[in-house]
Amino acid sequence: MDLTLTINGERRSLTVDDPRVTLLDALRQHLDLTGTKKGCDHGQCGACTVMLNGRRINSCLTLAVMHEGDEITTIEGIGRPGGLSPMQDAFVRHDGFQCGYCTPGQIVSATAMLEEARQGWPSYVSDDLERGGDLSDEEIRERMSGNLCRCSCYPNIVDAIRDTAE
Ligand code: FES
Repeated sequence: MDLTLTINGERRSLTVDDPRVTLLDALRQHLDLTGTKKGCDHGQCGACTVMLNGRRINSCLTLAVMHEGDEITTIEGIGRPGGLSPMQDAFVRHDGFQCGYCTPGQIVSATAMLEEARQGWPSYVSDDLERGGDLSDEEIRERMSGNLCRCSCYPNIVDAIRDTAE
């Protein structure tokens, strides 16, 4: 089966033998975009987070064949052109990682999360963002709860995201 996906602004063609190939495996195994990581492969860790039309998703939970015509953004597409994005820079300055395995997913998720918050998407913690409230640390933690860090760098990750949000 031949597919054409739009990834980081580029049209990319690939051939998959099985229509059940996940978007995550298509990225990593067919397109050499290995920045997106596979952790649990079951939608629980967030290591595979990419943006689909600006919204964050777990790429292990969706099939590549479903996304012709969508705009997919991976960690390789964040910060280009021109170097690091503000979120990437903040993760470096705040030491928002240890082993680094979850970091691409954390950064993609955090980048999309800030945009969701700016657009007033409510969360379980607070629904007052539509009134222009700042993100509290509790709010950041709740909105990032889909991205796990086994090194437990959460305080530094929250610092990096708060810094970027300000
Ligand atoms: Fe997709 Fe863990 S690899 S959520």
